[in-house]
Amino acid sequence: IDTSPRNFGDKHEDGTPILNRYSTVLTNGYDYPGAQAMLYAEGIKNKEDMVKKPQVGIASVWWEGNPCNSHLLELGNKVKAAVDKQGFIGWQFNTIGVSDAVTQGNEGMRFSLQSREIIADSIETVTVAQHHDANISIPGCDKNMPGCVMAMLRHNRPSIMIYGGSIQPGKSKLTGGDLSISSCFESAGALMYGKINEETMDDIVRHACPGPGGCGGMYTANTMASGLEVMGLTLPGSSSFPAGSPAKFRECENAAEAIRVCLEKDIKPRDLVTKESLENALVLTAALGGSTNSVLHFLAISHTADLNLTIDDFQRVADKTPILANIKPFGKYMMNDLYEIGGIPSVCKFLISAGLLNGTLMTVTGKTLEQNVANAPTLEPTQDIIRPLSDPIQPKGPIRILYGSLAPGGAVAKITGKEGETFTGKARVFDREEQLIHAFTQGDVKPTENTVLVIRYEGPAGGPGMPEQLKSSALLIGANLKNVALITDGRYSGASHGFIVGHITPEAQRGGPIAIVKDGDVITIDAVNNKLDLHLSDQEIAQRLSEWKQPPLRVNRGTLGKYCRLVGDASHGAVTDLF
Ligand code: FES
Repeated sequence: IDTSPRNFGDKHEDGTPILNRYSTVLTNGYDYPGAQAMLYAEGIKNKEDMVKKPQVGIASVWWEGNPCNSHLLELGNKVKAAVDKQGFIGWQFNTIGVSDAVTQGNEGMRFSLQSREIIADSIETVTVAQHHDANISIPGCDKNMPGCVMAMLRHNRPSIMIYGGSIQPGKSKLTGGDLSISSCFESAGALMYGKINEETMDDIVRHACPGPGGCGGMYTANTMASGLEVMGLTLPGSSSFPAGSPAKFRECENAAEAIRVCLEKDIKPRDLVTKESLENALVLTAALGGSTNSVLHFLAISHTADLNLTIDDFQRVADKTPILANIKPFGKYMMNDLYEIGGIPSVCKFLISAGLLNGTLMTVTGKTLEQNVANAPTLEPTQDIIRPLSDPIQPKGPIRILYGSLAPGGAVAKITGKEGETFTGKARVFDREEQLIHAFTQGDVKPTENTVLVIRYEGPAGGPGMPEQLKSSALLIGANLKNVALITDGRYSGASHGFIVGHITPEAQRGGPIAIVKDGDVITIDAVNNKLDLHLSDQEIAQRLSEWKQPPLRVNRGTLGKYCRLVGDASHGAVTDLF
């Protein structure tokens, strides 16, 4: 008996199509009786089921201690029941994950970006090693979504993603306003500079997260979920169905029907992730004013799919796409407000009709994007959440790709227009974020003259893990320090706004010019001409670079030790499989 994976179109002896093309390696004949014995032990009922039923891996990025992910096991249970109802066999497993809001401090955040690679490695490993015929992945927090999709692209078996959904806004009794996770970070700066008292601070922290779900603004999780939805990797509406809503539970049931369609029509991740669908994702991200972390993640997804998206594509798309979403961090509303007016399907319908999105691309439903959203509610002219093209929040997308003497390999800024378009100031240099936070806590960052805070040795290898300078950027906002900018070879949060530049490449650890900046050097961030320059002569820069000595890696052992040796630069997605 031939036990190699079957081709699409092969048939069982009774003429029915073989949908269990990979698990058939184990389940036909008796080459692997031990495997069959274990599968019977796990619940396969009879020989016919063993030989014929497709086995669907259901991977949730579930763990407790983080509202973005703690409800995903429940979603996985619903998917399993629905998969079983389809006459398939669902095998649940889960991966590790970390929360960007919890992985704070000196050590924690260094594991955040790296967790994307571990999620991808984990799902790839289980799917291929266990001979799953298809995969349904259920991510929640930021790095989960690209991690799941990178795994899909590696195993390239029919796959669907179900986003865990957004959290509801919190309510502060004392301030009376809606709260999001960024309210907490920003209030810390306000407390430090005496703008609120401890009672208010405590009330904000106590009420900001009222239940399960990913952060509710257009931060990284919602940005990535929306972008992957428009790429056809989820069912329509996945990115805007609130966590815990009946719509989210229905999506779990519908995903099982859709995985049948993918198996029957042989729709695979590499059929859906194309240069054209990535372009759609970039357009939607720009129109939504999405997170700069999406630059890293879409580059990583493109790399995994062997496509050639470049950092410059983000600038090209931003230049032609207006910001239409009046959603936090720099707008007024949250993802749940967008859900009420039709969610991402209505946005897609609008952008397709405006000629900004390509609606002809295939999706996991077996239909095109345009067909999927045809019945979505049309955006009402009276609503204020998605602006018309004639009255955008800003005429261009927020992501700026900057180059210059400080960033020969590129850097990423998020410019909303509120912060102005150029900034020149004197450098104040910190070799890690904690030094800057210490300066903040001592009241030692004073708004007396234009200052560019430089946080370096925080890149993919140097951090390691390219930690988000979340606290620093939020403190700047909370303290309302308007004549202070921040640049880093690390990342900054999707919730950040203000004059902040990250992803500076090459990073300091690998000898980028950011390594040779000294206190008092003059730096210009120019978002009109997309430049990031150190005002020194070429000779001075070359002289300082020749004198620079590479410091030893901060971590040599364990998972981060492996990571910082393997990881590539931010302008290519900071991936670890660059071989
Ligand atoms: Fe998990 Fe924001 S920290 S989605």
